[in-house]
Amino acid sequence: MGTGYFLHHARFPVEVPDITLLDLNPHCLDAASSRIARHRPTRVRANVLEPWPVGGPFSSIGLCYLLHCLPGAMADKAVLLDHARAALSDDGRIFGATILQGDAPRSGAARALMEIYNKKGVFSNRGDTEDGLKAALTARFAQVSVEMRGCVAVFTASGRPI
Ligand SMILES: C[S@@+](CC[C@H](N)C(=O)[O-])C[C@H]1O[C@@H](n2cnc3c(N)ncnc32)[C@H](O)[C@@H]1O
Repeated sequence: MGTGYFLHHARFPVEVPDITLLDLNPHCLDAASSRIARHRPTRVRANVLEPWPVGGPFSSIGLCYLLHCLPGAMADKAVLLDHARAALSDDGRIFGATILQGDAPRSGAARALMEIYNKKGVFSNRGDTEDGLKAALTARFAQVSVEMRGCVAVFTASGRPI
């Protein structure tokens, strides 16, 4: 959930959006919920890699800049997509962004910084690739879009696979 920056600046298709913030870090929940206090968000402290203790179903679930922070191989961390799908309405959509390695174009500076972050445990994306992300999404959703912007994958996914 981070700081709530994107939710603060987002435009919503309804006058009173029903927003649930989920994060493992209580300081991030504090920061984000204060920033968007006008929307009276629900706060949930939880690990996305375990079943989500949330209401729902939600029409939209944002997963921005989360996957590259999670430990494990893409196939393991993708369990969060199972939990997201369980919380999503039938016509709902997940969206997000994540920083990849593999063949994703990375400048020398990006490579160096990513290596430092991986060593410190801030990132855990040494094995994260575009193919791995697409495989994790298409195994769980019928419609999947992954667009690369540099080494950042911007994705959306919806629908149940047949
Ligand atoms: C890089 S921030 C991104 C925040 C926000 N989505 C954004 O785009 O600005 C990653 C967030 O994921 C949270 N996080 C990391 N691992 C988590 C986990 N296992 N379960 C729940 N939240 C987690 C962190 O506390 C942090 O708020």
